[in-house]
Amino acid sequence: MPSFVNEREGQIDFYNRFIPLVDHSLNVDDIIADNNDGVLNGNLLEFKLRVSDLNAHLFQCIKYLSALRIKGRPIPSNILIIDCNGETAYLYNSADYLDEIEKVYYGAASRDNAGFVGSSFNEKIDYSRHIGQSRIIALLREKLYTKIHIDENCIVGWATAFYRSVPNARKEDFLGDRTGQHRTIGEIRNPTVFRDFIYPYTGQSNVKFQYLMDKLNDTLQKKNLGAFYTPEVYAEKSHELLRMAIARVPEGNDYIILDRCAGTGNLEKKLTDEELSHCVLSTVEYYEYKVLQELIGSKVRHIIPPVESSDTFNAGLVRGADALSKDYLENPLIKQYVDNPNCTIILFENPPYTEPQAVEGQKNAPWKKSYVISEMKKECSGTISNDLGNAFIWSGFKYYLRQPTDSYIVYSPVKYWKAQHLINKKMIEGFAFNRRHFHTNIDACIMCACWSNEEGTSDVLHIDGFDIKGNGELVFAGTLPVYRIYKLYSNNYNDKRTFEDDTFDGITLGLDGIESPNNSRIRPLYNDNLLGYMIAGSSGFDKPDLESSLLVAGCYRGNGFFLRKDNYLEKLPMFCASRYITYNRAWTERARIMKSADGAARFKADVASGNLDQWLRKCLLFTCLEMQNHMRTFKGSDGRFYRNELCLDTTNGETIASVDIDKLNLNEDEKRLLAQWDTLLEAAKETEEYDETLTYGVYQIFAEIDTSYKDEDDNTVWNNVAVHTALSTLKTLIKEYYNKEIVPMLFKYEFLK
Ligand SMILES: C[S@@+](CC[C@H](N)C(=O)[O-])C[C@H]1O[C@@H](n2cnc3c(N)ncnc32)[C@H](O)[C@@H]1O
Repeated sequence: MPSFVNEREGQIDFYNRFIPLVDHSLNVDDIIADNNDGVLNGNLLEFKLRVSDLNAHLFQCIKYLSALRIKGRPIPSNILIIDCNGETAYLYNSADYLDEIEKVYYGAASRDNAGFVGSSFNEKIDYSRHIGQSRIIALLREKLYTKIHIDENCIVGWATAFYRSVPNARKEDFLGDRTGQHRTIGEIRNPTVFRDFIYPYTGQSNVKFQYLMDKLNDTLQKKNLGAFYTPEVYAEKSHELLRMAIARVPEGNDYIILDRCAGTGNLEKKLTDEELSHCVLSTVEYYEYKVLQELIGSKVRHIIPPVESSDTFNAGLVRGADALSKDYLENPLIKQYVDNPNCTIILFENPPYTEPQAVEGQKNAPWKKSYVISEMKKECSGTISNDLGNAFIWSGFKYYLRQPTDSYIVYSPVKYWKAQHLINKKMIEGFAFNRRHFHTNIDACIMCACWSNEEGTSDVLHIDGFDIKGNGELVFAGTLPVYRIYKLYSNNYNDKRTFEDDTFDGITLGLDGIESPNNSRIRPLYNDNLLGYMIAGSSGFDKPDLESSLLVAGCYRGNGFFLRKDNYLEKLPMFCASRYITYNRAWTERARIMKSADGAARFKADVASGNLDQWLRKCLLFTCLEMQNHMRTFKGSDGRFYRNELCLDTTNGETIASVDIDKLNLNEDEKRLLAQWDTLLEAAKETEEYDETLTYGVYQIFAEIDTSYKDEDDNTVWNNVAVHTALSTLKTLIKEYYNKEIVPMLFKYEFLK
């Protein structure tokens, strides 16, 4: 009998013995990829050093199988519970537990399993003997699966698996039903790719998946439709704004509530029948349109198109429902109201939104060539028309709202009003919602504002913030100011001077602070008076780490400016501001707080008078100890030695920073920070990786000395524990220091606003 000391040892031994006889090409990592002890062909394996309670172990396996179903993975037919030291396997059939597998479990699968009552095992196999060993091999070669039912809990997982298996598939190929004019029967109703894994879904329509329609979009639609659905409690909260707009309808007027991008009608579902009877709705995605019709079609005034014709289905989209097309703008159903002076128009929309990270990939998206965008470009300059949401907002005011009592209730990040000045209207009231609850995992602020169609500029909006608690209830997060911003760092603070002795024979770097093989967008400027290159310019915090950096030479991506030794101190607040979101992650901050140069005149005057001498040195201290300062010391390919001068390592003589920090009147926090830096540097000097010819900043220590590897149990092992510990402590201290000493002044001088 073997005597393994832990399960892991027994598991590895088992796999080493049996895998070569099952499939040579497999390795253990493939088998244990799903956070369980392993799935091998049609077998789920669970290893125990000694089996103690088969029912509890079986329940643990059921939870693993439940998780596989939700992820859209086939459910192995065999469950094998293995007693490693007893060399015994217990075989169960997963089909006998389908009801339990189709439930959803929360928490760790290994916990709270006692008390489950299962049936007896189907077979007990003693694999210390030949006959048992060959039985195990035969079982592990089996590729049989238990079919599962598709429901709301697992459909997104199976959709993802489907689009991965059939990359060109469209939503109809997965979701198509027998209702309506377009009759592609999709995979869930007639499984072919998943023939062995799922039962056909018998629901006539897709209404059961109404809240998931955006997540079921195929890859192409996900890119083009930018769909993020509104959670029910937010939809209901925004009804308060809608009702304020309805209250503004002049006596005797009719009114319509127009939602051009209604999806499955989440915003409207909970409206009263009277309110619904004023709704005019449309959406461009075909399966959303069908669900919308089924759910509220009989209660609303119009859905566009009102009924489906043989040509309504148009490559997954609804012909005539593209709100950005000329046809739509001219649609007589809507036009009759817009042209009627006795009808008030209320737009109520959560327009499609392009993730900032995805903007690059949107260059060729169909909406870029739409009629509305081409018209918008004639009136709006710059990048405003690069945003799908902006196209909805702009066209809403341009083509639909005509009277001062018309209103627009719109969900969107505040940028369109705050930074882009897309509209100058009067806000009646607005709310801030947490973007995390709109089918994303990003904590950020989405404003839902009720705009009156009256001109009016204001420097600040006050909106009430609401998050959603675990139990689904709204929780008030305070009244949040949103200030408008007017000036950019780049036009007001960046150093744009050129010098006669500037040369262009230097080097360019990547964001990791070392030379970059990429094609450079900037010329490799060199001058002895250069200290480095700063990136901090964009007004938003969409990509905080890409848009915040300090390097010893120019960055190949550009978007920054060269720091010169004579005035670098007064430039540092920009770098400090660019770290704000990293240290202030609450949902209320991102997409609400931005960077501005609106306080430039005051700031420059106070710098000139010397009032800010001490604070600028505090900014310097932060900059020297902040991990996003990626300045390193190294020999460049141009033969020059590049030294990090914005760090406090004086081993090889003073740095520019150390000289300036000497003039800071240190408080207790600052003394603690410097002592922690000393601890870190001393620890770094004790390591093999340390190079005494270099001048180290925090980032270079992190990148070159705080190295690690993974042990065989996949745990991270740090090569230099003292360095790693000192770095972790420094990170905590620097965050506290930043929020206490730096941030208030950044707001005071409107670097943050
Ligand atoms: C952010 S979702 C909002 C859906 C729904 N109103 C809600 O709040 O849950 C935006 C919707 O706009 C639709 N859409 C995207 N582009 C469109 C276009 N050009 N015309 C009409 N609808 C569009 C998407 O299919 C998606 O349903």
